[in-house]
Amino acid sequence: MDRYLPHRERLLTSSRPLPDFETVGSDGPWLHLADGRRILDGSSGLLCANVGQGSPAVFSRVEKQFSRYTFGGAAVVQPRIQLELMDRLCRAVGRPEDSVALTTCGTLGVEVAVGLARNIVRVRDGKRRGEILTSDLSYHGNSAFTLGVAGNQIRNPRPEDRCGLGPAFPAPYPPTHGHAHEGHGCDAACAGEVARAIDSRGAENVAAILIEPVNGTTGGAFVPPGGYLRRVADICRKRNVLVIHDEVLTGLWRTGTPLASRHWDGCEPDLVVLSKGLGAGYTGVGAVLVAPEIAPLLRHKDADPLPAMGTMATHPLQAAACLGVLDELESMDFEAFAVRGERLGVALRSLTGWAPVRDVRGIGHLYGVEVAPGLLWPLMRECERRGVFFYPFTGAGHPRSEGLVVAPPLNCDSQDIDFLTGALTDAVTALS
Ligand SMILES: Cc1ncc(COP(=O)(O)O)c(C=O)c1O
Repeated sequence: MDRYLPHRERLLTSSRPLPDFETVGSDGPWLHLADGRRILDGSSGLLCANVGQGSPAVFSRVEKQFSRYTFGGAAVVQPRIQLELMDRLCRAVGRPEDSVALTTCGTLGVEVAVGLARNIVRVRDGKRRGEILTSDLSYHGNSAFTLGVAGNQIRNPRPEDRCGLGPAFPAPYPPTHGHAHEGHGCDAACAGEVARAIDSRGAENVAAILIEPVNGTTGGAFVPPGGYLRRVADICRKRNVLVIHDEVLTGLWRTGTPLASRHWDGCEPDLVVLSKGLGAGYTGVGAVLVAPEIAPLLRHKDADPLPAMGTMATHPLQAAACLGVLDELESMDFEAFAVRGERLGVALRSLTGWAPVRDVRGIGHLYGVEVAPGLLWPLMRECERRGVFFYPFTGAGHPRSEGLVVAPPLNCDSQDIDFLTGALTDAVTALS
């Protein structure tokens, strides 16, 4: 038998078509291709390369740490660099008093947040059980638990493999909740669905709700109605249920603010999970921030063991890379950054109403361009021919919607943004 399998058969980590182009170099948001062309990364890799490729700031931090020591989990050497990262991160997102658990990716960040939330409510409320409620238009990672509990239809396991888990309430967006309204869209009152989901299970059985404050790749960048997240927070507070925000994708300025929830008042979560924007594609990382009002319960004498351990959970090279990413992010000209986000939104919204485009939504540097059924892959090809690529979303609702997630690196310049929107407009025109 031939020992050498073709790439397609050997690679078991992607079901999407592999890109036609070979990348031989990079420069910020641009990839240099073997045939001499360059292509703009309009999706920041997998929504993570938020400061582009090849950052000198990240390189110098990692190089420095590499020459000191390259492994040292928190229980092996004093976790100085990890603590430096935690301080810096908490300040960067405006939660300076939080405690932090570090881990290796977004999925594990969510798993750890779930474990911490369960520990907290058990110490605080005695015998309480640990259900975690999610929406039907959500993605929280690819472990057995997170796949089972989330609502993404494309990635859902078969019912018999879901470990009895599943989403608990409809998200306040047209694909799954549009039918509930006559003549108007979703609004803050849709939070009532969260109350119903908690009450039907009995609040004493629920540890937390887990929610993406702005929808990521499942629905394609839906933004919740004003007041929705605040009502959800109020509903949970009244019932002693914790709120976990999954900001794996949205955290660290993707939507224009350090946390996506900062677009609205009164919805600060008890726990927040960060990942993609923190590692920015340079390192795997997950960070769970826990509010100071509840974090001490995790050290209570009756508390269960912390769920945050793991061989690579607090790696010094990871911390060094993340510090470099924060250097990059914090050195941005934030006024110019906001203007670029605005420019991106205006250009994309102007596509609304063109024949192939069904809807444009989003915020900051995160947009969903929904297209008519069957046009997603032709549009991706037209975009690539014009030197830009995007992340496809294919997971939402009945009937299923599909389209492009537009999410360029945050430190693109305005010429890059104009190139991206120009190429996309031409690609849409070609399909009109
Ligand atoms: C909202 C959200 N949560 C969790 C995850 C899982 O993160 P990771 O792929 O790093 O495990 C993702 C990944 O796309 C995500 O978008």
